[in-house]
Amino acid sequence: MNDIVTVEVTDDIALVIISNPPVNAINQKVRSGLMTAFQTVDQDNNVRAVVLKCAGRTFMAGADIKEFDEPIAEPGYHEVFRVIESCSKPVIAAMHGTALGAGLEAALACHYRCAVENARMGLPEVSLGIIPGAGGSQRLPRLIGAKEALEFILGGVTVSATEAYKIGILDRVIKEDLMEGTLEYIGSLLADGVGPRKVSEMLVDKSGYGEEFLVDARKLSARRLRGQNAPNLVIEAINNAVNLPFEEGIRKEKIIGDKALVSKEAKALRNIFFSEREIGKIPGISSDTKRMQINNVAILGSGTMGGGIAMNFANAGIPAVILDVSEAVLQRGIAVVRENYENTVKRGRLSKSDMVDRMELISGTTDYNAIAESDLVIEAVFEDIDLKKKVFKKIDGICKPEAIIATNTSTLNINQIAAVTKRPEKIIGLHFFSPANVMKLLEIVRAEKTSPEVLATAIDTAKRIKKIGVVAGVCFGFIGNRMMAEGFHREADQMLLEGASPQQIDQVMYGFGFPMGPFAMHDMAGVDIMHSILKTTGKKENNREPYFNVLYQVGELGRFGQKTGSGFYRYDEGSRRPLHDPVTDALILQEAERLGIKRTTIENSEIEQRCMYSLINEGAKILEEGIAYRPGDIDVIWSYGYGFPRFRGGPMYMADQIGLETIYEAVMSYRDKFGDYWTPAPLLETLARDKKTFADWNIA
Ligand code: COA
Repeated sequence: MNDIVTVEVTDDIALVIISNPPVNAINQKVRSGLMTAFQTVDQDNNVRAVVLKCAGRTFMAGADIKEFDEPIAEPGYHEVFRVIESCSKPVIAAMHGTALGAGLEAALACHYRCAVENARMGLPEVSLGIIPGAGGSQRLPRLIGAKEALEFILGGVTVSATEAYKIGILDRVIKEDLMEGTLEYIGSLLADGVGPRKVSEMLVDKSGYGEEFLVDARKLSARRLRGQNAPNLVIEAINNAVNLPFEEGIRKEKIIGDKALVSKEAKALRNIFFSEREIGKIPGISSDTKRMQINNVAILGSGTMGGGIAMNFANAGIPAVILDVSEAVLQRGIAVVRENYENTVKRGRLSKSDMVDRMELISGTTDYNAIAESDLVIEAVFEDIDLKKKVFKKIDGICKPEAIIATNTSTLNINQIAAVTKRPEKIIGLHFFSPANVMKLLEIVRAEKTSPEVLATAIDTAKRIKKIGVVAGVCFGFIGNRMMAEGFHREADQMLLEGASPQQIDQVMYGFGFPMGPFAMHDMAGVDIMHSILKTTGKKENNREPYFNVLYQVGELGRFGQKTGSGFYRYDEGSRRPLHDPVTDALILQEAERLGIKRTTIENSEIEQRCMYSLINEGAKILEEGIAYRPGDIDVIWSYGYGFPRFRGGPMYMADQIGLETIYEAVMSYRDKFGDYWTPAPLLETLARDKKTFADWNIA
């Protein structure tokens, strides 16, 4: 026992209580405290049963991930959990909050498990590139069956207490007071003379766990967690549970678990985990910064974006009114929202009554005065600076003075938009990604005069609507789209002229781990978007300056992608499968000839390197300019908004692993070959020279 793990004995029941805020993560101190506590209660003749519970907001939410970079200090998980399981008195886990990872594995080492109704539990280790290595891979199959355990672990989902009870993880779901319910349950166990029940001694139910099931499981995880090895390691561990005695399985679990912990993918995934938890930490903003009340929102524009944004708020129980110019347009937009919800109901992911509740929170209006009292107004009209300025001027005059007005622009200068209002301190960018009801990322764009209160409110609001809100500064395209346009996609377009095909580039980037390559993505998102940006910003073809020459011409032909049946690829009616199109080949040849570019073969390795190094170089500029606060912010944006493979940890993390000197030298050689647009970012140059990493710069 120590100051983190304490024991209280009341009557003949011992309570072992862990108090390690904020989430009771299991570190060395928790492990050693648990060990002593259980040794003590086991010896105490007055104790007839033991409850394992946690203080604070949650049962143990997992192993302390901060310990993962070093070998796990003694006592190890297996050792401690063995002591819990060997206790001669019944041990009952009493869970609340989120019992995750090693937290749930601790509960599996107990003899019985209770949880309060709103608790959730899961083994999300694969999302961190590891396996449940604290006995979970051996105990869970014994408790619920091998097939069910594999599905549970590979799915990486958290389930409700009711669900956990149904699949056999829990012995009792407690409706009201957790301790009262647990003590009552213990009373019934003791009255029935029921003693300890070790999960490790149960027989594994192998039904359904055959070759066919495993082939399907491998296929499914190869799709869901493409590029990751953790699912294979999980399967190996569960096979051991099926085929070997418990102790032998546990010994092998340790070997497999340790191997996973130090793997490249696990380290990269840890970077995303901790970066994600840092994004809300903004200089000048603290818990003391005043927040504004957001009790309702108004959204301007009922298109796909406006409707999607409204759904986020309704899902969080916040009323949203959508404003559009005509009743017909408005009704069409709201019908799309309804259809989206209906599809979710059909897929079984939403109940009919929840859908009704959410639709009731969404209303429409064509009257600007109806938004006068809105706390937050989000403009999602067409991407045109003059139109946006006009709209902002108008709503500035109508909305109450304390209202925050946000723009959903993805590229435009928010300082200019703010300047047309009398409340520039209340103007902010909220860049939702499409489809807004699905994509988790939200770029929160801090304009020159945005006040700390408004920024803090936006960060909190992002959390309320379950978005990953990353703060960015104002520049063309902010963080994500700027890196895409000025780096990755621009370079990809340039390589079309030099000799690559859209298929070759897309295949290389798919192989790298993106869900699709840049050209398939343009076709999906709509070539017209980038085409119109190129037109309005003047960033179109300019001889060898690689500003999307081919994309511009594809757009000029009205080939806007999937929605028009052709873009870089062609599409059969009703299909989204990209097919090779000779028209694009001819167009590329014609452009290359017009610009005097001699086409040659480009190796796949060069394609990958040029796409990624141009992206990293732009990321370095963004960091140095203060557009992003930390390299991890960029990594989070790329993994949540652009499908950058999470197992690579994000572009800036990946750059540190490759080594900035290597990247700098490659960028220099591209500059010599292709011209000044490949000039290394000064930050890249400095860090490479000093043999440092982006992460070092972060700390500085
Ligand atoms: N190890 C170490 N630190 C952890 C942690 C873990 N397993 N889980 C959470 N934390 C830390 C976070 O880094 C954060 O620290 P900070 O306040 O210094 O930034 C703090 O706990 C709160 O976490 P946060 O995610 O911001 O709180 P939340 O209420 O939104 O979510 C959880 C809580 C538990 C649901 C979430 O943190 C989570 O999913 N944790 C990981 C669980 C997991 O994967 N466990 C398996 C590991 S084996």
